Amino acid sequence: MPRFPGTPFRDDLFEGQVALVTGGATGMGRSIAHAFAAHGADVHILSRNEEHLADAAASIEKETGRKVAWHRCDVREPDQVEAAFAKLPRLDHLVNSAAGNFVVPFETMSRNAWSTVVNIVLNGTFNATRAAFPLLSRQGGTVTNMVATYAWGAAPYVSHSGAAKAGVLNLTRSLAVEWAQFGIRLNAVAPGPVKSEGATKNLFADPALQQKIEDSVPLRRFGTPEEMALAVLYLASPAASYVTGDCLTIDGGQWLSNGLFS
Ligand code: COA
Repeated sequence: MPRFPGTPFRDDLFEGQVALVTGGATGMGRSIAHAFAAHGADVHILSRNEEHLADAAASIEKETGRKVAWHRCDVREPDQVEAAFAKLPRLDHLVNSAAGNFVVPFETMSRNAWSTVVNIVLNGTFNATRAAFPLLSRQGGTVTNMVATYAWGAAPYVSHSGAAKAGVLNLTRSLAVEWAQFGIRLNAVAPGPVKSEGATKNLFADPALQQKIEDSVPLRRFGTPEEMALAVLYLASPAASYVTGDCLTIDGGQWLSNGLFS
C-alpha cells in the first residue's frame, strides 16, 4: 500500500484505535480520515451527504486496505449525532472538522446565514464532543478541533465563521483543563489558506484572489490537506502526550507576515 504523502509516522501508529472525523467525507476532513486509516486506525466518518460518504469510504479503503465506516449525520442535529456515536465500539480520537463558510459582508448577512454557520461550527463541535465523552473517558483519548488563523485575529467578510471558530478555540482550552482528569487531551489546528474543494469554491474561487493570498504567505503557496492531516496525527499521537489546550498553526507564516516591512 502507498504510504500517506509526507508521513514521518510508522504505519501502525494507531493500530487497535478508533478515530471519528466529522466532515470526513470531503476536503480536509477526508484527508484526516485517510491519514488515520493509513496509520492503522479504524475510521468512522460523518457527513450530511451519503454520496460523498460512500465515495470517500471506498477511495480510502482502496488506498489503505482498511474498512472505513460512514454515518449520515448533520452535526447540527444532536439526535443524529448521538445516534452515530451510539454505533461506535470504542473511540480514541475525535476530530471536529465539519464546517460551513461563505463570504458575506456583515451588514447584508441574514440572521439565518449567521446561525447556519455558528450552528455547524460551534454547536456542531459541542454536539460531537459531548457525544464522544462517554466513549473517550473509558480509556482516554484526544479531541482535535479544526479552527482557522482568523479565530484569534479578525475575520472580515467571514465574521460568522470567525466568531464560531473563536468559540471553538476557547472551548478547546476550557475542556483541556476540565477533561485532563479523564486522560483526554484537546488541541486545535489552525490551517492557513488550503485549497480544499469547499474552500476553493466558497472562499477563493477567483484566481486573482488566489494569487493575492499566495503573495501574503511567506512560504509563497497554499497549504495542502495532507499537511493539515499530518498535524492532526501528531496531536493525536503519543509524541504529543504532554500537549493539551494548544493550537498548532499551519499557515506558511501568513498570520505573522503583515509587519511594517513585509
Ligand atoms: N452569501 C450570503 N448568504 C448565504 C450564502 C452566501 N454565499 N450562502 C448561504 N447563505 C445564507 C442563505 O441565504 C440562508 O439564509 P436565508 O434563509 O436568510 O436566505 C442561510 O445562509 C442558510 O443557507 P442554506 O443554503 O439554507 O444552508 P445549508 O444548511 O443548506 O448549507 C452552507 C450550509 C450555507 C454553509 C453551505 O455552504 C454548506 O453546506 N457548506 C458545507 C461546506 C463548507 O462550507 N465547507 C467550508 C469550506 S471553507
